[in-house]
Amino acid sequence: MRPAFDLAEQILARTGLPVVVSCGIATGEGLAAALAIGADGVRCGTAFPATGESFAHPCHKSRIVEASGEDTVLSDAFFLNSPKGAAVRVIGNSVTKGLKGDCLGHNPDSLPREIIAHDEEQPRLRFSTDSPLRTTTGYVEAMALYAGRGAGNIADIVAAGAPLDPMVAQALQMLKGAVRNGFKAIS
Ligand SMILES: Cc1cc2nc3c(=O)[nH]c(=O)nc-3n(C[C@H](O)[C@H](O)[C@H](O)COP(=O)(O)O)c2cc1C
Repeated sequence: MRPAFDLAEQILARTGLPVVVSCGIATGEGLAAALAIGADGVRCGTAFPATGESFAHPCHKSRIVEASGEDTVLSDAFFLNSPKGAAVRVIGNSVTKGLKGDCLGHNPDSLPREIIAHDEEQPRLRFSTDSPLRTTTGYVEAMALYAGRGAGNIADIVAAGAPLDPMVAQALQMLKGAVRNGFKAIS
């Protein structure tokens, strides 16, 4: 969570722009910490694919529920559709295992274009940035199963509104505590 906060603090110090902190925020602690540094809000990714309303494939949802933060991997191997070197955080799968720890520094031209799944008529390639949707068929386990380290906080597939209530309640409690403690650092 720290790099996102460091960047947000630098932007807040130099500009009057509204700032939304993103990456690794899945609890009220992250929300409270973002508001405490003066950010306007947070963006949560991983909190929402594993919800009933989400269009993610059931395999992606169940992998998020089962995963801990340590099961996620930062890799630039999912590079088709993406600029070279753009790393994404995914849940470790057969593709990342095949990299044998060599998760970064891949050359997009060096790997084969192999169709492993379809979304209706559209082919989905191994090493592409496409993640599996409800409509995807084929070898979905090998697709980009996006998740941040906050996956460890997700234990069930719930309604999309459900992650918000405990997050807001925890953030409020922490911010009230910070006020009582004379605005000492939140995290
Ligand atoms: C459903 C989903 C799709 C994502 N798609 C992309 C993507 O196409 N490219 C990318 O760089 N990151 C993608 N990400 C990664 C997020 O931008 C982010 O790095 C990661 O989810 C950490 O933030 P979080 O903890 O709020 O989820 C995706 C994440 C999720 C959950």
